[in-house]
Amino acid sequence: MLFKTIQGLVEPTPFWAHRLEDGIFPVTISGVMQEDDGSTRNQGITTQEVTSAWEEYIEEFAHSETWRQLEETLSKATFPRRIDKIVGFGLGEMTSIEGPCGIPEEGRGRTCMQHALVLSLARLLEEKTGVKVMCHVQDPGYTSRCKEALAAKGIKVAEPETGFLAVDEATLVFSMNPNVPVRQIIADLARPAAMIWRPVKEEEKREWRRDSNGTWISPHSTDPDSPRLLEMVKGYTQLPFPQDWTYFGELAVYVRKGGNEK
Ligand SMILES: C[S@@+](CC[C@H](N)C(=O)[O-])C[C@H]1O[C@@H](n2cnc3c(N)ncnc32)[C@H](O)[C@@H]1O
Repeated sequence: MLFKTIQGLVEPTPFWAHRLEDGIFPVTISGVMQEDDGSTRNQGITTQEVTSAWEEYIEEFAHSETWRQLEETLSKATFPRRIDKIVGFGLGEMTSIEGPCGIPEEGRGRTCMQHALVLSLARLLEEKTGVKVMCHVQDPGYTSRCKEALAAKGIKVAEPETGFLAVDEATLVFSMNPNVPVRQIIADLARPAAMIWRPVKEEEKREWRRDSNGTWISPHSTDPDSPRLLEMVKGYTQLPFPQDWTYFGELAVYVRKGGNEK
């Protein structure tokens, strides 16, 4: 499925403008021939290797300053509903050609740390409310080894694209640099109890431009802000996410207002 942002609909790629005659669709269903369904990519890496590399990051994250600060913020928050589900979007595959948990340079472990956050969040919410928290993640990039490692920790892979349908009022959404407009899609579908995603800001007006080679450069990210998003977050309290540029990036915590549950 291809999801268009509102910007992609009203300011299409200049060299595709003629295709407007074919109609304007926010979602396109298309057939893709894939050479690899995730079972052969990075085949040299076993599930056991992914699991043990990820275990190290789960430990590291649980003892990190990032988690200490986030735990403090969330422990004080009052949620509108008892959260019983976390849905993570675009957290990335946990194998790469370089080895389990990513490339051995700065940023190694980003995806494993982001999946570790899902587990720590679930544990914290369960301790806070006593309600079992189911974890789902959606990313078309998972290899079969990622899926096995995730399943072993009780995390369900939502495919294809069913993560969006799983989001309801008792859900916490966690989205990190997705290549798809997660925030705009959720704004059209649901009002989750909480979100951890890029802070919503007033849009800056920017134009398509060409670089020195004549290639068109989009003025928008793959998960841009929009007026509907701005409207949506008026119903939420924004709390800070700790600064952690190595494993996360610019994020904010949103908790739906009107809460009286824990
Ligand atoms: C830029 S990477 C971010 C990876 C990781 N979160 C990070 O911060 O390094 C974008 C991710 O979005 C994923 N993605 C693409 N389409 C998606 C979709 N429909 N649903 C969820 N994730 C998607 C890609 O597979 C990729 O892992």
